[in-house]
Amino acid sequence: MNEKNVLFTIFGGTGDLAQRKLYPSLFRLYKKGNLSEHFAVIGTARRPWSDEHYREVVKGTIETLNPSAEEAERFASHFYYQSHDVNDSSHYQTLKELSDRLDEKYHLNGNRMYYLAMAPQFFGTIVSHLKSQKIITETGFNRLIIEKPFGSDFHSAFELNEKIRQAFPEDDIFRIDHYLGKEMIQNISAIRFANNIFESQWNNRYIDNIQITFGESLGVEDRGGYYDHSGALKDMVQNHILQVLALLAMEPPVAFSEKEIRSEKIKALKAIRIYEKKEVLENFVRGQYAAGQLDDQTFKGYREEDNVDPQSTTETFVAGKFTIDNFRWSGVPFYVRTGKRLTEKGTRINIVFKQVPVNVFKTSIDEPCNDPTLPPNVLTIYIQPTEGFSFTLNGKKVGQGFATDPIKLEYRNSAEMVENSPEAYEKLMLDALNGDSTNFSHWEEVAQSWHIVDVIRQVWDQVQPDFPNYKAGSMGPEAAFELLEKDGFEWIWQPDHWYRERG
Ligand code: BG6
Repeated sequence: MNEKNVLFTIFGGTGDLAQRKLYPSLFRLYKKGNLSEHFAVIGTARRPWSDEHYREVVKGTIETLNPSAEEAERFASHFYYQSHDVNDSSHYQTLKELSDRLDEKYHLNGNRMYYLAMAPQFFGTIVSHLKSQKIITETGFNRLIIEKPFGSDFHSAFELNEKIRQAFPEDDIFRIDHYLGKEMIQNISAIRFANNIFESQWNNRYIDNIQITFGESLGVEDRGGYYDHSGALKDMVQNHILQVLALLAMEPPVAFSEKEIRSEKIKALKAIRIYEKKEVLENFVRGQYAAGQLDDQTFKGYREEDNVDPQSTTETFVAGKFTIDNFRWSGVPFYVRTGKRLTEKGTRINIVFKQVPVNVFKTSIDEPCNDPTLPPNVLTIYIQPTEGFSFTLNGKKVGQGFATDPIKLEYRNSAEMVENSPEAYEKLMLDALNGDSTNFSHWEEVAQSWHIVDVIRQVWDQVQPDFPNYKAGSMGPEAAFELLEKDGFEWIWQPDHWYRERG
């Protein structure tokens, strides 16, 4: 048990993220004893809610976790609401008074966590006020958890960072990337650094290519307004995908500590080639979904979605090839793809090893044949919806003669383990409470990711795309398949059908 006395202030307290993720995560922490009775939460947003109404909402958000009525009541009693206009300085004074009062009431020792879960254009204003209105305490810890997007390009991210750094030192800034809280993303390090069999092969001598797929069957749902200004490149590649890529590509850290891991991730990101215009056009593909069928249901096209410009040229799909210019990875393409309204929700990583140099099973002394047609070994890491990994080998086909057959060694977490595995947000909130920023994005990582992505965005902005170019329910545009085919590869087909569906 690792109890903390702390006051959470959640900006965006009435919002979707707070209700879907933050309150249930806090409840799980509470139930497991990670939050003692010495904690309080202030939810702020514009709406004029009362504490009573807020507590009812909070109770509603934890219903599926089956608390007893008494337990839900006790938990919700720690929640306080303040209607708040982030631009109005006087509101911060009220917030300060409430914070100090709760600090005293719950014996919180000045420990504060500020959670920015609202529109990013307000991040800077809120943080400046936290400092100027002296809400940040002089005793205890003061930590800032900040949701994505962290800027919309390098320049805006830099400005935001400068503003935040005036109020919080880097060690107290926790930039959330919720993928870093996912069980199987954290497992990448265990697979690599706890198994000599893989780490000894984890380089360009043995690996042919790496494929990262973040597929989503959902469309933009009710986030059209945000998404139409963002697109898949900024929404998924700049943060989640590059973070995962860094974990796959980094050198082994000398210790499993935040400082050492961070330092290796930054080096990996710095080794990713920043493309010239021609390389962007050759190596990156974008797409936007048209109406289509998925599981017998018809879905409208992206341009017909609510709050989306009917002429929109925003991409809902990206596929690309990253090149890493260092000794370990030179010559190994890292293919990535992500998109909305694809065939299935599925996040997975395929590490495709080099084929054996000679297929001796096809060789006869009289007729030498050097065609290495044996399928490659593939290590697949299943991130979601199921969690686990598999490794394919070639074995002998049972019976007379000598033919080979692929064999799949598979490990899937049992349903029970998946259910009990803490949600990404719960883990990350506990990490932040413990002051451990290993699973958060450091400023240097964010900055480098923007450098990589900004160039792609700038090139795309100069060329009018031919959208829409894939059907809802497919696995993206034809060009995403050609991207690999022109290098002599294909998106690996595991027994799962959905790798094959083209736009
Ligand atoms: C978010 C993106 O960061 O990640 C969303 O803004 C996306 O567009 C989501 O749907 C995917 O996360 P998960 O955990 O559902 O795979």
